[in-house]
Amino acid sequence: MSRVAQEFLDLYGYPPEGVWAAPGRVNLIGEHTDYNDGFALPFALPHRTEVAVARRADATLGFHSADVPSGVVALDLAALDPAHPPRGRDGWAAYPAGVVWALVDAGFPVGGVDLHVRSDLPTGAGLSSSAALEVATALALAELHELPLTRPEVAALARRAENAYVGVPCGVMDQLASACATDGHALRLDTRSLEQRHIPFDCAVAGLRLLVVDTRVKHDLADGTYAERRATCHRAAHSLGLPALRDLPYEDLDRALAGLADPSTRGRVRHVVTENARVLRVEELLRAGRLRETGPPLTEGHASLRDDYEVSCPELDLAVATANSAGAYGSRMTGGGFGGSALTLIDADAEAEVTRAVTEAFARAGFTPPRVTRAVPSAGMSRVL
Ligand code: GLA
Repeated sequence: MSRVAQEFLDLYGYPPEGVWAAPGRVNLIGEHTDYNDGFALPFALPHRTEVAVARRADATLGFHSADVPSGVVALDLAALDPAHPPRGRDGWAAYPAGVVWALVDAGFPVGGVDLHVRSDLPTGAGLSSSAALEVATALALAELHELPLTRPEVAALARRAENAYVGVPCGVMDQLASACATDGHALRLDTRSLEQRHIPFDCAVAGLRLLVVDTRVKHDLADGTYAERRATCHRAAHSLGLPALRDLPYEDLDRALAGLADPSTRGRVRHVVTENARVLRVEELLRAGRLRETGPPLTEGHASLRDDYEVSCPELDLAVATANSAGAYGSRMTGGGFGGSALTLIDADAEAEVTRAVTEAFARAGFTPPRVTRAVPSAGMSRVL
């Protein structure tokens, strides 16, 4: 029996019906584009969240996490209310509760469940630990109730849980990456049509490595800055007479910017349009096997997020600048920003040197020591037991 299944048994006194897992993600490029109907190129991490689940005969929901000392959070299915999700110490339970709520709201006949979760994904590191929990829970419940949901539908349901129940207005990139990514590939997403392309992305054969630098600065998408960026983009698209910023062609960017009075809005628009172009460029380079050449667009993407979109922070900027000076091909923040992680593309034999340089630079700046790990494109959600 797996560890998480054994823990379920110890906790609830009976075995789970199964164990399901979903990974976190790193976004290679295409940041803050998903709520603008744009392009993104994430991949799934080997780090994942496992849920052991069993159905109950009543309408009680029991949620327990090995990673949060909250005990079992017990909720009544009939009383789930997006206006009052669990908060405080029990706040993590809003994610699985939101998934149950979203399933019921979509008309699926879901009853009570007991759930135990264990994850090796750090929370607040910009690696989509919340999407992993939502997607693993959604997959478990879909399979237990034999619901005919496709992978993108599981992702959409998980995102609805986060938007409508947890109250975070995120796009769909994280959930799609966690549900649909495949081993050894990056996932090129068109977030308007939901078209997916699985692009081979094997750094090892090219003698390269991707490192993730967790700055240990926690970001919180619910703090209003994310929603503010999103609203600015939607207003800008509206004032340009477009359905979304996705519809502003790169060639028309300067003309469109000249018509926008507010300098910060101009920056937001410039970021989204140039970032969509960078995704397409990086996709082309990956397809051509020119992996080293993806470095410059990654670093340009970081500068754009720092200067035009204004979602970076000193720790992310230092990680990027230091890794690049230590020989990286390119580096950028990944995820929503204001903390979380940076990613850096390096020669495989430069790992020790880049890790040392970044760690020393953080120490000199008086920052919390960063956590540096390797990122290998891995598979999306699956049943494990
Ligand atoms: C967070 C959101 C995603 C996406 C990124 C920024 O991770 O959950 O939907 O908007 O920020 O690219």
